[in-house]
Amino acid sequence: MTASVDNTPGLHNQDKVHKRDQTGIGSASLAMPEMAVGAGARASAASESWPAEFPRLPRVPTHVAIKMDGNGRWARARNLPRIAGHRRGTKNLRPILEASVQFGIRIVTVYAFSTENWNRPQAEVDAILTILGEAIKQETPELHANGVQIRHLGSLEGVPTHLADRIQEALALTRHNQRLILNVAFNYGGRAEIVRALRGIIRAGLPAESVTEDTVSRYLYTAGQPDPDLIILPGGEMRSSNFLTWQSIYSEVYVTPVLWPAFGVYEYYQALAAYNQRVRRFGRVLPETTGNHQPTGAPGAATPNGAADLAPG
Ligand code: FPP
Repeated sequence: MTASVDNTPGLHNQDKVHKRDQTGIGSASLAMPEMAVGAGARASAASESWPAEFPRLPRVPTHVAIKMDGNGRWARARNLPRIAGHRRGTKNLRPILEASVQFGIRIVTVYAFSTENWNRPQAEVDAILTILGEAIKQETPELHANGVQIRHLGSLEGVPTHLADRIQEALALTRHNQRLILNVAFNYGGRAEIVRALRGIIRAGLPAESVTEDTVSRYLYTAGQPDPDLIILPGGEMRSSNFLTWQSIYSEVYVTPVLWPAFGVYEYYQALAAYNQRVRRFGRVLPETTGNHQPTGAPGAATPNGAADLAPG
């Protein structure tokens, strides 16, 4: 899975991604509102397919990132091998993606495998790679049919060829889909991503004085995408673990003790409800309001990388 349109970062790609994103959704089979997701765009509509069992929320994050943590503990609590937890955790992604579409979320980023995860016992690493390969094979046709664009955040260096090929095929097949972007952070590290971006900038020969935060953003795997509004940490660990290091500085973080394999749509809704209670100031002081809480993401609020907050309202 590659970063965005192709593996070469830069302004050109950013522009391509942005333009394509702004074309909106094509012939979606589920009712989905037209919304642009490129940096600087504004949300224009809330979900029309909101699940009836949950009260509607005034604000929906455009980009949600999830660290799929707790697979091992989930398995251990059931006297199962850790691999069983990874299998269950992998299965759990589909209902969460379906709910994301229903809630009107446009980008979901999942942390599948970090650069540090290679240090796990070889048998577990092998099993995770196998499970990932199987999941790509089984799920990609349906994801494609449902308009999901799969993108890869991370490097394919050192990844077994058969898996790398399968990943590239899934990216190529789904690259024009617009209903939901699924970023899979695999063999990903936030610091490594920043180093890669800096190397790309140096290689491009940009004058030092011209390099801004926007420049760096354009050389990241997430080029052209707004930063995550909400990062969900199932499993109770209160650390980011090298996940979206550059992009997360103003993300709202939601930690839940629920382990990822048990994290269902109800828990997802709770995270979104909590997000609605957050005051997003982006380092500023907000004008006095009548209530204690300013709704999350006042329309048009500028984020540090120049992207508007895309929450509807
Ligand atoms: C974290 O739980 C999970 C992982 C490191 C690997 C999860 C990824 C996969 C199984 C591949 C599937 C990928 C997709 C895109 C579906 P943990 O092992 O750290 O759990 P623990 O904290 O309870 O030990």
